[in-house]
Amino acid sequence: MCAGVHAAVDMAMRHTDAYCLHGIVHNELVIKELESRGCRFVEDIEDVPDGATVIFSAHGVAPGVRARAEEKHLEIVDATCPFVAKSHRAVRDFCVRGIPVVVIGDPEHAEVKGLLGEITDRRAPVKGERIGVVCQTTMNADEVRERVRELQRDYVVDGVVEVCNATKERQDAVRAFDGDALLVLGSRNSNNTRKLCEIAKCRVFAAGNMEEVLKLRGEISRYEKIGVTSGASTPEEFFKGAVACLKRTPRHVAFIMDGNGRWAAKRGKKRGFGHIAGAKTLMRVVRWCGERGIQYVTVYAFSTENWRRPADEVAGLMRLFAAMLKSQAASLVKEKVRLRVIGRRGDLPEKLRRGIEDLERRTAGFDRQLVVCFSYGGRAEIVDAVNRAIEIGEKVTEASFGRLLYAPDIPDPDLVVRTSGERRISNFLLWESAYAEYHFTDVLWPDFSEGDLDAALADYASRNRRIGGVK
Ligand code: IPE
Ligand code: IPE
Ligand code: MG
Repeated sequence: MCAGVHAAVDMAMRHTDAYCLHGIVHNELVIKELESRGCRFVEDIEDVPDGATVIFSAHGVAPGVRARAEEKHLEIVDATCPFVAKSHRAVRDFCVRGIPVVVIGDPEHAEVKGLLGEITDRRAPVKGERIGVVCQTTMNADEVRERVRELQRDYVVDGVVEVCNATKERQDAVRAFDGDALLVLGSRNSNNTRKLCEIAKCRVFAAGNMEEVLKLRGEISRYEKIGVTSGASTPEEFFKGAVACLKRTPRHVAFIMDGNGRWAAKRGKKRGFGHIAGAKTLMRVVRWCGERGIQYVTVYAFSTENWRRPADEVAGLMRLFAAMLKSQAASLVKEKVRLRVIGRRGDLPEKLRRGIEDLERRTAGFDRQLVVCFSYGGRAEIVDAVNRAIEIGEKVTEASFGRLLYAPDIPDPDLVVRTSGERRISNFLLWESAYAEYHFTDVLWPDFSEGDLDAALADYASRNRRIGGVK
């Protein structure tokens, strides 16, 4: 926040029983916070009851409004930004000297309305006449300079009050930014925020609150170098939260989808019923992860140990996987998700293997990936890699050994989530998850919701990933 906004918000915080004329600053989060503390917002001075306390917003008011407040015996808390107040004084000075004033700005904006209210003689200047120029403090500084140059062609410009420094500094930083995308944080009705969006030379994203940042995260994270800036009335806390959210979105999340059987039992149903519900959850989770910019999702669907389950459950799981390959093919293609299946594929029925290969081929060109661990065991994967190393006859390093694993091109998981309250690894990604963060939740997998995913991601974002170093 700039100093003027800071002071205005502080004043409003100290007068939460007051009526604020116009949004104290143009920021939805600030307004929401003040409203929740009791502050009331009105657009017209007539809506403030006589004798009450009124706060003039940072954008300032016309002298007529101030006079009316005095007539109504209002107690005035003036939160006008000092730079706006300076512009008011400049307009008054020009008027006293009989010099016509040109105001550069948006005529619908509160600040401009206030400035126009200072002008006593509204006549248009004549060619060659001496004029004063005052601009809205949050305009595009380059555009203002251009307008002043235009005015200088026809008039003698006596003095110019330019945009405020806080505005100028932000604009200069945005102009200088040479990244691929810029996230501008602030509200739609904030003039200086909008100007930052206009000035940027790269792809621009705008967000006024955390929900909007979360929605945009997926699209933004496709860019390599991202800048973040904010309007002058954007709370620091929101800014920090948004940056942390962009910085700390895991690239790869792995799920131990556990609790299907218990979920079914709680409903008096057979375990297979829980597996079907779990499969539906999986497809939703893949979509939510995509929306959040997570490029790789790995799921533990069937372990090398799961072969020990009763034959009918195992057969049911094979049938369910085959059915999923068919029913989800179109949506994987539509959502551009590449399917990979890792594990001891040789153990699977021939028909299922063909179904897997077919869908893997059809989705091979896509960037986002869904890795399904099926007949998978972390030890089996390491043992298989060791045997391949022996076949090749070479001593291994960590890097070369990694290349012998089932999906060597995929980065290690950043986060492993296990549902159903169990707190163990169960032979999942033993090599790959050496530095993963773990998140455990009691929620049974079929019930795992978008909110549960966000909770896991928030938990991940709060961890300090030192990776052996000191940070
Ligand atoms: C996870 O759910 C799915 C598979 C292991 C195939 P479970 O079947 O392990 O469910 P619970 O643990 O018995 O509730
Ligand atoms: C882990 O779940 C394996 C899968 C989710 C596929 P299990 O329920 O089979 O594992 P344990 O036996 O509880 O460790
Ligand atoms: Mg289980």
